[in-house]
Amino acid sequence: MAVTLREITRDNWRECVDIRVDASQTQFVASNMFSLAQSKYEPECIPLAIYDDEQMVGFVMYKSEDYGLAKTWFIERLLIGADHQKKGYGRAAMTALIERLRSQHGYNAILISFIPGNDIAQKLYSDLGFKDTGELEEGELVYRLALID
Ligand SMILES: CC(C)(COP(=O)(O)OP(=O)(O)OC[C@H]1O[C@@H](n2cnc3c(N)ncnc32)[C@H](O)[C@@H]1OP(=O)(O)O)[C@@H](O)C(=O)NCCC(=O)NCCS
Repeated sequence: MAVTLREITRDNWRECVDIRVDASQTQFVASNMFSLAQSKYEPECIPLAIYDDEQMVGFVMYKSEDYGLAKTWFIERLLIGADHQKKGYGRAAMTALIERLRSQHGYNAILISFIPGNDIAQKLYSDLGFKDTGELEEGELVYRLALID
């Protein structure tokens, strides 16, 4: 497996729109069509395609948030295409994104949120070191990975 995160461009955005989760999971995540539209009009949102070698398998989107002095990353979206799930891509993509965000200075944490009941996401984020903040934002549980001790 060779997982990389790549920019969405003129050449791959249509393929990105075609990456979809299973019908039973659409409650957990917005479609890539929605996310790409959001990233155009909310340009602080940075969308990336998840590739295994040359095959697009999923999508992530993140943004920088400024709380006064402290800057924080927020992972706005994560999904792996229905046909590509349970192969380790979600974990590998999150690991790659965390590494990318860690390499930029001046940020104290990465936040991520998910709908209560999304046990797979909850377990994945906990395994990666995210902790429950106890906060709910727009009905979603907010988890936090500290970047500075
Ligand atoms: C959450 C999601 C990104 C995980 O991606 P993935 O590539 O399937 O996950 P991985 O293969 O890396 O597996 C991560 C862990 O979750 C477990 N897992 C993944 N899918 C599972 C399933 N359907 N049932 C039970 N466990 C599952 C894996 O076994 C693995 O656990 P382990 O490391 O202890 O073995 C994917 O399920 C998804 O896109 N879901 C729909 C969208 C969503 O909920 N996004 C998150 C919104 S915040």
